Amino acid sequence: MMGEFAGKHVFVAGASSGINLEIAHAFGAAGAKVTVLSRSEEKIAAAAQGLRDAGATALGIACDVRDYAGLEAAFANAVAAHGPVDVLVSGAAGNFLAPALKTSANAFKTVIDIDLLGTYNVFRASWDHLTKPGASLIAITAGQAVHPMAFQIHACAAKAGVNMVTKCLALEWGPAGVRVNAISPGPIADTEGMRRLADPVREAKIKKSLALRDYGTKADIAEAAMFLSSPAAKYITGTILNVDGGNDLGDASADALGLGG
Ligand code: COA
Ligand code: NAP
Repeated sequence: MMGEFAGKHVFVAGASSGINLEIAHAFGAAGAKVTVLSRSEEKIAAAAQGLRDAGATALGIACDVRDYAGLEAAFANAVAAHGPVDVLVSGAAGNFLAPALKTSANAFKTVIDIDLLGTYNVFRASWDHLTKPGASLIAITAGQAVHPMAFQIHACAAKAGVNMVTKCLALEWGPAGVRVNAISPGPIADTEGMRRLADPVREAKIKKSLALRDYGTKADIAEAAMFLSSPAAKYITGTILNVDGGNDLGDASADALGLGG
């Protein structure tokens, strides 16, 4: 896709590491001007420098997605530097494994505030700064949105809300030519998310249970974000795109399929 996004402004929230930083790199390599945002001044400065070292035009902004006024200022600054936002990815998230009885009200609220309210804040604060018509908005959700999981009551509730924010905004903002979709990654290798959720023993079990029998890569998610933001996807809105090796289908282990071994 080299050059396809030349001169476009791609804004990625939650992009100091992992999947979202990879998305920023992919768009940067395709010629986009990139803005990356996350809480940590130090981490986001390093991420922006890494993008510039790779040849991209990149701006790093430190801001917490729970801070609405901070986001308004962030969009104003980003647009002053790079012009209206053509592609907006909202992927800031927090997660940890904890049974409900060890999840305090504040722990639950914290994940809801980062993942769900944060996604709403990022999208809502972007409105005045989007390319209209034409902008592509992408939320990064997760399988937890539709599959209840033990020890993740906070993330399940938050990501279920993210799916609905995606669909409701797709309805309301479609007439202005703004498409809103979400990507639901499966287990992705070499990410903080999977480091928190699976040790090596559990990792082997997860791989056996997936139809495609392996973790995905950060590049798999970046490619999907580029597809959703390309002219090829101009009639796609309100979609939750699973990029998950079949995770959404359920357990595909040989045992579960009745194939033995
Ligand atoms: N088990 C149970 N509760 C936990 C917890 C855990 N492992 N980790 C944090 N909490 C609770 C805290 O105890 C606190 O609740 P309390 O006030 O009742 O004690 C609450 O969550 C907020 O914690 P705090 O550390 O103040 O939140 P934060 O805003 O600084 O950080 C987190 C947010 C907790 C989600 C943190 O893990 C984070 O920054 N994550 C980002 C990276 C990440 O999760 N990546 C994977 C993305 S899928
Ligand atoms: P990650 O590297 O920890 O990325 C999370 C990012 O969010 C970091 O850049 C973090 O940077 C930022 N962030 C966290 N809280 C923030 C806040 N309050 N305000 C602003 N930025 C904040 O995790 P990842 O595993 O790559 O996950 C990325 C996304 O993919 C998440 O939405 C996650 O739910 C989703 N996902 C991941 C997997 C997986 O296999 N890893 C599977 C399904 C879905 P700072 O610390 O600098 O703020």
